[in-house]
Amino acid sequence: MPASEDIAFDLRRMRAEDLPQVLFIERQSFPNPWPETTFRGEIQNMGLSFPMVVAARPGGEILGYVLYWLVADEMQINNVAVHPDRRRHGLGERMLRVAMDAAKDLGATYAVLEVRQSNKAARILYENKLGFGFLAVREDYYSNPTEDAIVLGLPL
Ligand SMILES: CC(C)(COP(=O)(O)OP(=O)(O)OC[C@H]1O[C@@H](n2cnc3c(N)ncnc32)[C@H](O)[C@@H]1OP(=O)(O)O)[C@@H](O)C(=O)NCCC(=O)NCCS
Repeated sequence: MPASEDIAFDLRRMRAEDLPQVLFIERQSFPNPWPETTFRGEIQNMGLSFPMVVAARPGGEILGYVLYWLVADEMQINNVAVHPDRRRHGLGERMLRVAMDAAKDLGATYAVLEVRQSNKAARILYENKLGFGFLAVREDYYSNPTEDAIVLGLPL
């Protein structure tokens, strides 16, 4: 596996033809994966939703995705995943930095997200690498298993 800097990618809007790869990653990544209909709805929600895929260059393989909403000046990050075979190579961090820069260019001044309390990998990425700070706890927010969400925020 090459170092992260060697993996070239484009962050581009998700398309319907990406869904088989996206759904594979989603089902490998979460105990309660989003169904296909949710992704289709987000793809069609052009005004509000930014479902973005990391597409390898060359080749176009989907390596991960980040899905966010822009609501006024707030970037609400609703889904983040990297292909299980591509983790720990810096892609998640790079993908989020590119997405946050893009959201900032569109007027976002603040990013916010929720994460399972026990999701160590994501929390280290958000809190230690990217500088997100604690905002709140949402009790029993997640199911399967039931767990609190930690709400994190970052000025852009
Ligand atoms: C969270 C996730 C997106 C991270 O993607 P990734 O490409 O592996 O992350 P990166 O390689 O960019 O990691 C950046 C940093 O985050 C931290 N990190 C990432 N995964 C980690 C792990 N498993 N354990 C400890 N730290 C981890 C490290 O500090 C890492 O930097 P380092 O490799 O220099 O130590 C990925 O693990 C994933 O898809 N998980 C399943 C879905 C999920 O939980 N999404 C988040 C929901 S809120």
